[in-house]
Amino acid sequence: MAEALRVGIAGLGTVGASVARVIASKAGELTRQCGRPIAVTAVSARAKGKDRGVDLSGAKWFDDPVELAKSAEIDVFVELIGGDEGPARAAVKAALEAGRHVVTANKALLAKHGVELAAVAERRGVLLNYEAAVAGGIPVIKTLREALAGNTVSRVFGILNGTCNYILTRMEAEGISFEECLKDAQRLGYAEADPTFDIEGNDTAHKLSILTSLAFGTKIAADQIYLEGISNITQADIRAAGELGYRIKLLGVAARTETGIEQRVHPTMVPTASVIAQVHGVTNAVAIETDILGELLLSGPGAGGNATASAVVGDIADIAKSRPGFQHGPVFGWPAKELKPYREAKMRSHAGGYFIRLTVHDRTGVFAAIAKRMADNDISLESIMQRPDEGNGKSQKTVMLVTHETTEAAVRKAVDGFTKDGHLTSKPQVIRIERAA
Ligand code: HSE
Repeated sequence: MAEALRVGIAGLGTVGASVARVIASKAGELTRQCGRPIAVTAVSARAKGKDRGVDLSGAKWFDDPVELAKSAEIDVFVELIGGDEGPARAAVKAALEAGRHVVTANKALLAKHGVELAAVAERRGVLLNYEAAVAGGIPVIKTLREALAGNTVSRVFGILNGTCNYILTRMEAEGISFEECLKDAQRLGYAEADPTFDIEGNDTAHKLSILTSLAFGTKIAADQIYLEGISNITQADIRAAGELGYRIKLLGVAARTETGIEQRVHPTMVPTASVIAQVHGVTNAVAIETDILGELLLSGPGAGGNATASAVVGDIADIAKSRPGFQHGPVFGWPAKELKPYREAKMRSHAGGYFIRLTVHDRTGVFAAIAKRMADNDISLESIMQRPDEGNGKSQKTVMLVTHETTEAAVRKAVDGFTKDGHLTSKPQVIRIERAA
C-alpha cells in the first residue's frame, strides 16, 4: 500500500469539521478510490478544545496556520479560514511556496489573488484546487476546466449563492420577511461570516469572476462586475413577478459580447416555466452555453458543511490520485501567465427585457407621462398593470411595466425621466429579465 497522503486543515468551522468527519468516516472508500489512504495529520483553528464530532487527537495542533502551511509533516494544505487577506492569503502563499498542494474553498481570496497564487502553484509544480469555492458541491470547476476542453463558451450564468436563493424561495413560498429568512440561513450555516457579502451580491460576484476566467481564459476581474444585491426586493416585487409569469432569482451572468465580456450580478426575473426558476432553497445552478455541447445545466447543494466538504474531499482525492507529471493542468484552465487581459463590455449597452415598478401619485396625466417617457426612449411595452397601493392609505397607485427587449441605457434614461416628472412617491424598482434555460 502506498503511503498516506498527509492533510493539514486550517479552519475547523462548519466546513472544516465536516471535511475531517468525511475523511474519517469514508477512510475505506477513499483508500480504494485513491490507491492510498488519506489522513488528517495536522490542524489549526481558533478554539483548541471544542467538540467537532470527530476525533482529531492524533493530529498535530498548530496555533499559527502559516506554520501549519509550511510544515514538512503535510503534503496538502486545506485552507478553510476565509477572508481575502490576513492568515488565509499568507498561509496559502506559504504552502505553495513550500511546495505543498493546496485545497481551498475561499472564493474571496481567489477572486482577488487567484492569478498570482496560480502562478506560484504552476511555478512550484503543485496543485491549487478550489472546487468548493464556486457553487458548493456542484463540480463546475472540473466541468469548465476539464470536461469542456475544446468547447468555446459564450455564456455562463447561474444561481451561485445559497443564502440568497434560500431567502427568495421562502419569501415567495411563505410570504415571510427577509430578516426572518436571513436569520434561518445563518443558523443553518449557509451564510458568510458577514452576511452582507451574501445579500449584497459580493459572494456571487467572487464566484462569477472565477467562472469567467475559466470560461473565457481571461484574468480574474472581480472588481469589474455590475453588482446589485437582493436587499431591495420586496414582497410586492415577488408577487408582481408571479402574476406576470416570472420568478425572481439572484443571478450571476458572464457573457462574451462583440465589445468584450459582460459580467453582472443582480436580481433577475426568469420565466416561471424555465428550469432555473425551479431551483429552490439553498440549491445552486450553473448554466453553460458552448458551441459544441450546446447548453449544460448543473444543479445541486450550494452551501452548508456537507455540500462544501464533498467538493473539498473530491479535491483532496484528486491530489491523492495524481502523480508527478500527471496532473490536471493549469489552475484556471490556461497557464496563469497566458491568461488574456480582461476586456469589459459596457453595462449600458446590455440588451434585454425589464420589469419596472413605479409608485405614483393617483392623478390625471401620470399614465400619459409614463407612456411618453417610454416612447421618447424607444421602449416598447410587453405588458402594463396598475393597482391601488396596499396598506399605506395614501392616494397613490402602483404601476408595473414589462418591456420588450431594450437597452440598459434606454431604461435608465426613462427612469430618470419618471423621477424628473415629479409623479413618483418612492424610488423606482427596476429588475432585469433574463432569457433562461
Ligand atoms: N454563503 C455562501 C452561500 C456559502 O450562501 O452560497 C457557499 O459559498
